[in-house]
Amino acid sequence: MANRQPDLDPKVLTIADLLVEGQKNVTLASKEYFNGGAGEMITVRDNEDAYNRYKLRPRVLRDVDGVDMTTSIFGVQVAAPLGFAPSAAHKLAHPDGELATSRAAAKNNIPMCLSSYASMGLEEVKAAGGSNPHAMQITFVRDLEATKEQISRAERAGYHAIFVSVDLPILGKRLNESRNNFSFPAGLEFPNIRCRPTESDTNVHLYSISFCEIGRLTSLDPSITWEKAIPWLRAQTKMEIWLKGIYTPEDVAMAISHGLDGIIISNHGGRQLDGVPATLDALRDCAPVAEGKIAIAIDGGIRRGADLFKAIALGAQFCFIGRVVIWGLAYNGEKGVDLAVKILLDELRQTMMLCGCHSIRDITKGHLSVLQSNGRLSKL
Ligand code: LAC
Repeated sequence: MANRQPDLDPKVLTIADLLVEGQKNVTLASKEYFNGGAGEMITVRDNEDAYNRYKLRPRVLRDVDGVDMTTSIFGVQVAAPLGFAPSAAHKLAHPDGELATSRAAAKNNIPMCLSSYASMGLEEVKAAGGSNPHAMQITFVRDLEATKEQISRAERAGYHAIFVSVDLPILGKRLNESRNNFSFPAGLEFPNIRCRPTESDTNVHLYSISFCEIGRLTSLDPSITWEKAIPWLRAQTKMEIWLKGIYTPEDVAMAISHGLDGIIISNHGGRQLDGVPATLDALRDCAPVAEGKIAIAIDGGIRRGADLFKAIALGAQFCFIGRVVIWGLAYNGEKGVDLAVKILLDELRQTMMLCGCHSIRDITKGHLSVLQSNGRLSKL
């Protein structure tokens, strides 16, 4: 049919298809590591379920010819309000690892955040993505010199921002990792972290923590506070500083008062504390406090273009995907990640056109409703 959009792949038409096909190519332990989460994974499931609690409210007879999904982040124009969240060890999903991810991000002109626990060097990942915007995820570890070094390496390599994980004073309890006695395979290196195999070890292994039990992340620093962290970070870099792992309006207000450049409403993909709200529900609480004062993004549970639309309608300026990238890698390396992005952006374009939105700023809460227990649709 003339208007029918061509299929991008014979087997994978949706992100749900990508999950099924991608997971066929990884070991059970790796699949459960990536898909796993804290505790009984109530929050992992709720991150996705939250999107289904909102209905779309299309408006008609609006000019949607040539829909424009462009927006900007870190002062750079990008193709859409979609980026790659930091996720560890991409080489577990595909041998090309984070280089493939970075190339797919650059090909689609969407930003990528590299995990501290990436399996490839931050410099080569940036080089693979060229001038495409990259952020570096930072975790506060006891060895501040290690964090300082990571930040300066990223700045020298041309990263635009650091995303500081503030939800990681201790690693969440992922039961699958206990049940599978999970550890990263020998030979898998983490070249962006300087780490001592044990606190007492004076022999610092630069740029490789294949010797460390990364799963225990023994060197996290639970004593970090706003007062200690933010001035120290500002003194280290001219890059934008975003906090990843904000859940409450109170901490949005703290981020504004401490002069941060952005926040990501995130629960680490449900991997840290089971029982916290879905990020979409937390976003609804937080966005009004952030509006016009600090950039606000979301990650967690995004599996459709319509999910992107709903997050934007509830106040997110940007949406990050984590596991979807891993499934794309597992399915077909760089081409699989490229496919995942194209599916999501095609679906977002479709949703925008059918809801009467010509540009991202046209998307508002008025495009959503909830079905009440009495069967009535209620606007937000
Ligand atoms: C995780 C750590 C690496 O979620 O952030 O596995």
